[in-house]
Amino acid sequence: MTNLIRIKKKISPFNKKIEVDGDKSLSIRWVLFASQATGKSKSNNLLMSGDVIAALDTIKKLGIRVKLNNNSCEINGNGINGFRYKKNLIINAKNSGTLGRLILGLLIKSPLKIRLIGDKSLSKRDFSRVTVPLKKFGAKFNYKVKGKLPLSILGSKNPKGIKYFENRGSAQCKSAIMLAALNSAGKTSIKAKKSRNHSELLFKYLKLPIKIKKTKKYDFIDINKPKKIKSFNYQIPGDISSSAFFIVLTTLASNSKLLIKNVNINPSRTGIIKILKKMGAKISINKKKTYRGEKVADIFVKSAKNLKSIDCPTNLNSSAIDEFLIIFLVAARAKGVSYFKDISELNHKESRRLDWGSKILNMMGIKTILTSNSIKIYGQPNLEIKKKIIIKNYLKDHRIFMMSTIAALTCGNDWLIHDKESINTSFPSFLNIIKKIKNKNT
Ligand code: S3P
Repeated sequence: MTNLIRIKKKISPFNKKIEVDGDKSLSIRWVLFASQATGKSKSNNLLMSGDVIAALDTIKKLGIRVKLNNNSCEINGNGINGFRYKKNLIINAKNSGTLGRLILGLLIKSPLKIRLIGDKSLSKRDFSRVTVPLKKFGAKFNYKVKGKLPLSILGSKNPKGIKYFENRGSAQCKSAIMLAALNSAGKTSIKAKKSRNHSELLFKYLKLPIKIKKTKKYDFIDINKPKKIKSFNYQIPGDISSSAFFIVLTTLASNSKLLIKNVNINPSRTGIIKILKKMGAKISINKKKTYRGEKVADIFVKSAKNLKSIDCPTNLNSSAIDEFLIIFLVAARAKGVSYFKDISELNHKESRRLDWGSKILNMMGIKTILTSNSIKIYGQPNLEIKKKIIIKNYLKDHRIFMMSTIAALTCGNDWLIHDKESINTSFPSFLNIIKKIKNKNT
């Protein structure tokens, strides 16, 4: 099977209803929290992607029983700090920053040294952002290259709660510390710049001892060690980050409509909707409900004409952090110059997404001005791509592949896009859903 796709024409008008795969952040969190619960937890619609399978493999290696059955998964936890394993254990977070960073929080009391490894992309990413605060709990880390995988962790016998200031707006860092607090005596106090709050909502739903005070810019979180975590079932809603590609496909296609059913619309994740609406996109949210503290709804999108540029407010950055590549594509088709600033974190993702996003737009004939933490995009509403485009996705970044596919389907000409297997990281159904949208008979 070839690992590349070729797209030679724009998508025809469509009117369809779809569901996207389960949310990646919630899936990984359910696996990790269920691994600390006492007894059997079950989930439905768990995302069966590379990142989540790596999470299941990791807890299995740590002695937790996992049963997979079609669309449902059962985890039989041994309680907090209930991991059981032998000497010289190696765990592999593969491509997943969320898994790699959060699991270190759960290993804060591990009595034996554990080695954490990852793939080529993850091995380029910074781990000192979690190991520095985790050391304050008493854990010890060893690296070959400072701050990078592979690393080894040896837990502390008596971890004690810490005070921590999370100033990047990173939910992974915040959550790693929150998980370490589950195993630590006394209180852990976190002052965190706003970021996705799925971990906090799970703490609340599970009635773990957490107190949260919110100000405009920061959340102040206090956690005390719980006695136990009760097992819990979870129906994982669709992923807004996966929906984002289809929201943009519909926005940029002509005369089309799309209903995306049952998507997690936690306000800490919906920056894309706020940003695209400011640019003139036609998106509405229907059938809102709350599930285990998370907001879930249907998203309805119509094609938009006359999109306008945006000077993107920086307070929306963290809630759109995984969607900027696809938002850049809308900016490329909007009238005027769009400006996105304070987004250096994009260069710390699965690949250097700020740099690559700019490069792809340039290949399409769009002018950009790029700095290390901002980009200006000179939109062309009537863009005509003049040459064949080949996207070589060196670090197999799933979102680079999907953004390029949507660009090809909405801007036309001849595209060769490498590494289609990268979709298995976060959104295995991506290409099947495109087939369904293109199919006149469904
Ligand atoms: C995630 C947090 C974000 C995001 C990632 C998933 C999470 O990373 O980019 O895809 O599930 O906590 P940072 O914490 O590095 O911003």
